[in-house]
Amino acid sequence: MKSFFHVQDIGDLGAALKEALEVKANPFGWKHLGANRTIVLVFFNNSLRTRLSSQKAALNLGMNPIVLNVNGDSWKLETGMGVVMDSDKSEHLREAIPVIGSYCDIIGVRSFAGLKDMEFDYNETILKQFIEYSGKPVISLESATVHPCQAFADLITIEEHRTNKRPKVVLSWAPHPKCLPQAVPNSFAEWMNAADVDLVITHPEGYELDPRFAGNANIEYDQMKALEGADFVYAKNWSSTKPYGRNICRDSSWTIDKAHMDVTDNAFFMHCLPVRRNVIVTDEVIDSPRSLVIPEAANRVVSAQVVMKHMLEDMQ
Ligand code: CP
Repeated sequence: MKSFFHVQDIGDLGAALKEALEVKANPFGWKHLGANRTIVLVFFNNSLRTRLSSQKAALNLGMNPIVLNVNGDSWKLETGMGVVMDSDKSEHLREAIPVIGSYCDIIGVRSFAGLKDMEFDYNETILKQFIEYSGKPVISLESATVHPCQAFADLITIEEHRTNKRPKVVLSWAPHPKCLPQAVPNSFAEWMNAADVDLVITHPEGYELDPRFAGNANIEYDQMKALEGADFVYAKNWSSTKPYGRNICRDSSWTIDKAHMDVTDNAFFMHCLPVRRNVIVTDEVIDSPRSLVIPEAANRVVSAQVVMKHMLEDMQ
């Protein structure tokens, strides 16, 4: 695997899910693969789960993880091409990336969307520069438009908890005080479209996901109607797409509460975390026995480990 951004990068999805459950049952079974290998994890943005689960996955595989917090403990990096670098940014990505590549075997990058220029964000400009200039396999640890490690972990969690062959999965927009990227819902939709589930997406008008990610999902603007009979409810805020990157709806009736869960088929509740309690979801729902938010987060180690394992196997 040269890079990991999209569901097709993992290969056969059924086989990847089976492999994930094997890795989960035997996390140290492939420790030999990472001997004398190094992964550098580059964070342009904050993280709890991705930072820790990626390091844990690397350690389980016998790899040495190094974390670089850009703008924290490195030089501030310029990302624009042709810029006169007379501001506070001391180093350009054009040099930083090949230097990082010379120190490691795999690179993971977290780089959120700026939400100002849709074309720049949806071109995955920063990630493409890492691929072009590092010469190493690159993992998106949530980039401008995708969060594949999260979506893979979400699918593993659904696989572990589903009670019918083709569950109904509802991705529901929920309110938030800030403008958030579309990476998590994009990847969730992309992976669910590739999986054996019936996907329904519900959101206010103006929040339509890019058709490349929404695919063949059923779009339902009536949230309660969308939730009827659901087996899994995946809540997430994202900023609007029309216009791009704005917070055009703050309607608290979209907050997932007991009344929403009552119209489902005793659905499990899911969220990628971090979550704002009583904004995205009520305490009652997230604290209920049907909440999967902690198992989902735990499965982030498993999804990252399968991805790194594929990359290390290609280097053998
Ligand atoms: N879900 C997720 O990616 O969490 P972090 O932002 O804490 O890494």
